[in-house]
Amino acid sequence: MSLDGKTALVTGGSRGIGRAVCLELAAQGATVGINYVSNSAAADETLAAITAAGGTGFVVGFDVADSAAVQQAIKDITADHGGVDILVNNAGITRDGLMVRMKESDWDAVLDTNLKGAFTCSKAVMRGMMKKRWGRIINITSVIGFLGNGGQVNYAAAKAGLVGFSKSMARELAARQITVNCVAPGYIVTDMTSDLSEDIQEMIKARIPLGTLGTPEDVAAAVGYLASVESSYMTGQTLHVNGGMYMGN
Ligand SMILES: NC(=O)c1ccc[n+]([C@@H]2O[C@H](COP(=O)([O-])OP(=O)(O)OC[C@H]3O[C@@H](n4cnc5c(N)ncnc54)[C@H](OP(=O)(O)O)[C@@H]3O)[C@@H](O)[C@H]2O)c1
Repeated sequence: MSLDGKTALVTGGSRGIGRAVCLELAAQGATVGINYVSNSAAADETLAAITAAGGTGFVVGFDVADSAAVQQAIKDITADHGGVDILVNNAGITRDGLMVRMKESDWDAVLDTNLKGAFTCSKAVMRGMMKKRWGRIINITSVIGFLGNGGQVNYAAAKAGLVGFSKSMARELAARQITVNCVAPGYIVTDMTSDLSEDIQEMIKARIPLGTLGTPEDVAAAVGYLASVESSYMTGQTLHVNGGMYMGN
C-alpha cells in the first residue's frame, strides 16, 4: 500500500468527513492519528473501525486553536511515531447568523478553529516534514468559500482564507517536496448538516446537478488521492467534491 510507513494526523477525525478520511488513509497503510476536541467516545469509535479493518491508529485530543496544546501533541506524536508525514486540517465548526446580528465571539470562534487551527497545526508539523523532504498538507475548505452564503460570513471568510493560505504555503514548501492542497466539499451528510430542514435540503438538492448530497467517503477519496505518492506533481490546488454545484476553480 502506498502509505505504508507514513504517519497521518487528521484534525477532527472523530466524526463525519474526518472519520472517513481516517479510514481511507489507514486503508492506504498509514498509521492515523485521530484528533478530537471534546468527543473522545467518537474518536475511540473511529479507532475501533480502523482496527477492525486491519489498520493502525491512535487517538489524540487537543483544540486546534490552542497553539501550546498543538505543539505538545505534535511533540508527543513525533516521539511515539517519528513525526507527522501527512496532515489533514479538517476540524471545523459553524456559528451561523446574519452579519447584522453576528456576535464578535461567533466570528472569532469560527476563524480560530477553521483558519487559525490550520496555521497552528501546519506550523507544528512543517519542520519535521522539511527535514524528511517529504510531506502532504491537505486543508478542508468548502464550496461556501467560493460561492459565499448569506448567514455564513465567518465560515466563508475562514474557508476562502484557507485557499490563499494553502497556495502561499505550497510555494514556500515546494522545494522540499512538501505539497499543500485543498479539498472543497459541497453539502455532505454529517452532523454539521443534520439540522437542515427537509425543505432546505430539497432547495439545496435542486442546486446540485448530480441531485444528491455527498457522503464523507466522497470527500475522503479526494483526500486519499492528495495524500498519495501519485499526486506528487500537484500543489496549491483545490479539488472540488460538490456534485457539480460549483464548477469554477
Ligand atoms: N458537512 C458538510 O457539508 C461540509 C461541507 C464543506 C466543508 N465541510 C468541512 O469539512 C470539515 C468536517 O466537517 P464535518 O461535517 O465532518 O463536521 P462534524 O461532523 O461537525 O465534525 C467536526 C469535527 O471537528 C472536530 N472539531 C471541532 N472543533 C475542533 C477543535 N477546536 N479542535 C479539534 N477538533 C475540532 C470535532 O471534534 P469532536 O468530535 O470532539 O467535537 C469533529 O471531529 C469541516 O472543516 C467543515 O467545515 C463540511
